[in-house]
Amino acid sequence: MVVIPVALAGRSYDVHVGQGLIERSSELAAAFLRKAVVPVVADKNARQHHGQRLEQALASAGHSATWFDVEPGEASKSWESLQSLTDWMLANGVERGDHVLALGGGVVGDLTGFACSILKRGCGFVQIPTTLLAQVDSSVGGKTAINTSAGKNLIGAFHQPALVLADTDALKTLPHREMLAGYAEVIKYGILGDADFFAWCEDHGASVVAGEDEALTEAVAQSVRAKARIVSEDERETTGTRALLNLGHTFGHALEAETGYSDNLLHGEAVALGMVLAARYSHRRGLMTASDADRITKAIAGSGLRSEISSLEMRCNGATLVDHMRHDKKMEAGTLPFILLRSIGAAFLDREVSLEDVSAFLDEQLTAS
Ligand code: GLY
Repeated sequence: MVVIPVALAGRSYDVHVGQGLIERSSELAAAFLRKAVVPVVADKNARQHHGQRLEQALASAGHSATWFDVEPGEASKSWESLQSLTDWMLANGVERGDHVLALGGGVVGDLTGFACSILKRGCGFVQIPTTLLAQVDSSVGGKTAINTSAGKNLIGAFHQPALVLADTDALKTLPHREMLAGYAEVIKYGILGDADFFAWCEDHGASVVAGEDEALTEAVAQSVRAKARIVSEDERETTGTRALLNLGHTFGHALEAETGYSDNLLHGEAVALGMVLAARYSHRRGLMTASDADRITKAIAGSGLRSEISSLEMRCNGATLVDHMRHDKKMEAGTLPFILLRSIGAAFLDREVSLEDVSAFLDEQLTAS
């Protein structure tokens, strides 16, 4: 097991990465288990796969669990779910000093974290992420939110967990497609800030997505280290450092919007395509070499993720995609910050990108064969 501290004044916590952590959860989270009956918010699938192990762990320390089931999918990040969850927490007597466990992927983590940020003006929570994407990204860093009809993650709060238990055994039941989607966020850390880790991903990516224990633990641990470093430097995304985590996301969100935020294109799949576009656009702007952009494309395609937006067969042009970008919550005073690249491992924030130029670039990419 690897323990990675997230250093934040007054809100520091540890992320544990390794195998068998759900079995050890009552020991690892002992300091946060005040109630005899522990409130657990869980994705229905995660509960089915891992609920028994968690219950046994709690029982071994004299606790039992009371469950709030969450339907899998983004639709659960809603006002309705938030209301049901907070009502349930109040009915179960959750107090400020208590901690709720969140078992599942990003949807459960975001919903539970947000509910905990407002319950009695803030109670604690422990993340037990069960998807690769949640282990390497959303469970760490304290971004919590729900969606509204105006867009994704528009209502939320920064609320850090007290502890994260990233049990890599939980990934054994994860569908391959979701494993791949999570891997996009792993390789992202290499592309944005760590050329050595990118090279490691080129060599070990296949083992990671195949779920081989050693490679998987190394990939999750290295990703969490990178995220912890960035979050410690810029918890509230005010200096531009945390914004680097949005590499591939502005392009990716436009693709997700065009494909209806649906199973047609998972978030990680969109981010993978977005990173290829960011790399190629950086090359077009003369910022990065063609060979670095090709290496990024090859590493993404080689893992099994899509690298070409033309393969999505969307009936749209560059202007349509740019129009989706104009609704991005990062849009500020008519400009949209893009994360671009000077080389592999050297991302930066560019606030001067011309959306007309991006539109012309996307037209080329949509028709490329
Ligand atoms: N997922 C991006 C962030 O946590 O800032």
